[in-house]
Amino acid sequence: MPRSLKGRLIATYLFLILVSVGGMAGWIAPQLRRSIEEKTEHELEIEAHLAAIVLREAIEKESEGKAQPADLTQTLESYAKAFNSQLRITVLNADLAILSSTDAQVRAGHEDRHPEILAALQGREKHDIRLDEYSGQERIFTAAPVVEGEKVIGFVQLSYPAAPMWLEISRAWLTLFGMIGIVIFGTLGASLWLARQITAPLEELTALTQQLAAGDLSRRAPLRGPQEVQRLAQAFNEMSERLERLMQRQRDFVANAAHELRSPLTSMRLRLDLILNQIQEDPQVQRQYLEQLLEEIERLRKTSDQLLMLSSVDEGNRIPPEVIDLSPLLYELSDEMAPLFHARRHQFTVEVPPHLPTVRVNPEQVRIIVRNLLDNAAKYTQPGGFIELRAEAEGRQVVISVRDNGPGISEETLPHIFDRFYRGDKSRSRTAESGSGLGLSLVKELVVLNQGTIEVQTAPGKGSTFMVRFPIWEKRA
Ligand SMILES: Nc1ncnc2c1ncn2[C@@H]1O[C@H](COP(=O)(O)OP(=O)(O)OP(=O)(O)O)[C@@H](O)[C@H]1O
Ligand SMILES: [Mg+2]
Repeated sequence: MPRSLKGRLIATYLFLILVSVGGMAGWIAPQLRRSIEEKTEHELEIEAHLAAIVLREAIEKESEGKAQPADLTQTLESYAKAFNSQLRITVLNADLAILSSTDAQVRAGHEDRHPEILAALQGREKHDIRLDEYSGQERIFTAAPVVEGEKVIGFVQLSYPAAPMWLEISRAWLTLFGMIGIVIFGTLGASLWLARQITAPLEELTALTQQLAAGDLSRRAPLRGPQEVQRLAQAFNEMSERLERLMQRQRDFVANAAHELRSPLTSMRLRLDLILNQIQEDPQVQRQYLEQLLEEIERLRKTSDQLLMLSSVDEGNRIPPEVIDLSPLLYELSDEMAPLFHARRHQFTVEVPPHLPTVRVNPEQVRIIVRNLLDNAAKYTQPGGFIELRAEAEGRQVVISVRDNGPGISEETLPHIFDRFYRGDKSRSRTAESGSGLGLSLVKELVVLNQGTIEVQTAPGKGSTFMVRFPIWEKRA
């Protein structure tokens, strides 16, 4: 069995067609031969009977001795000529002695007791194909009795060379096998075509996959060939599109991350240079530089934490969720964040019931989500502003909302706030508070990871409300 799909398909077709056509030929060929033989013999038998009737008178005269032997021979010859020059007619008397023949060699013979004559003697019809002792060629023989009233007065034996019959049979066989050959070649061609239809797109896909593996992500497979192969090509295209998007995202991410780390490092280096090389000698200013350096380091640490967390989410590291009541967690968080609001003289209120329906989430990730939202509210709301943390059950969900009366988010900024490294208000200079723009993108990914949704309601100048919803955990029996 060949190893390739194409080879197997062709081999199978060829085997099937050879078996079926071969079987048919094996059955038809002998039938064809028999029918041609029978036709020829039948014709010869009819001729023999005809001759027996036509020649009766001449034979009668001859056997009664009323005629010259040459008369009968002449009659026979003219009769034979009317038919076919190859025909040999021999006449025998009732005792099977040869009276005359169209063939001089036969005329010289005495008697003939071959099967066809013995059969005619018994009133049967029989033909015989044999090597003729006179001419040395293969001939077909048949004989018929010559009847006068009730009495058999002699026999007419007809013979004819077998070669034309064999020729006819071989011609018929040749036609048959020629047709079989055409069928086999036709099938072979059709199966080659069909095999190509299936294997060509597969080979194309293989080549594309190899190119993809070598790094060319832009390749797409054409939708050709049978339906199943087309579906495969479609799946391939979806896969490579996804891969391309993923790779692009990864590249952007790395580029942004590098950029994000580079600028603070440059400014840190500058300040350190000034201090180390004694260019800035004022101890007051030096101290200020060192404090700024500390802040910068703190920010870098935060950014690298966020990057690590994002990449772990990207890798699909799922920390197992727990079924919990979010209330204690939210109280804990508001206690933790309170000093931050206090420092900025924000009015911070917490509207969380003592107990909430349980949700199935990862507590640590929820902490990061809420901490980031509160951090943004604190960061972007002017001192003395109003900030509220709420939680409640709403339908089959628990909603956590963080509301502020800060500047709100402009229409052009809004679609991008969940993008990685996106920071609104680019004009704002880097301050101790400006972040890397990773906060909300991390929030979004964590919310989705915990089967939740996030939504913003905001209007410029009127503040923003971020709402996170988690489905209530329903214990299944
Ligand atoms: N409560 C808010 N009020 C006004 N604007 C907001 C608020 N929260 C987010 N934004 C806008 O959305 C942008 C993206 O927020 P995000 O938390 O992702 O980044 P960031 O706070 O600038 O940096 P990071 O969170 O990494 O320290 C912010 O730069 C800001 O413009
Ligand atoms: Mg933020």
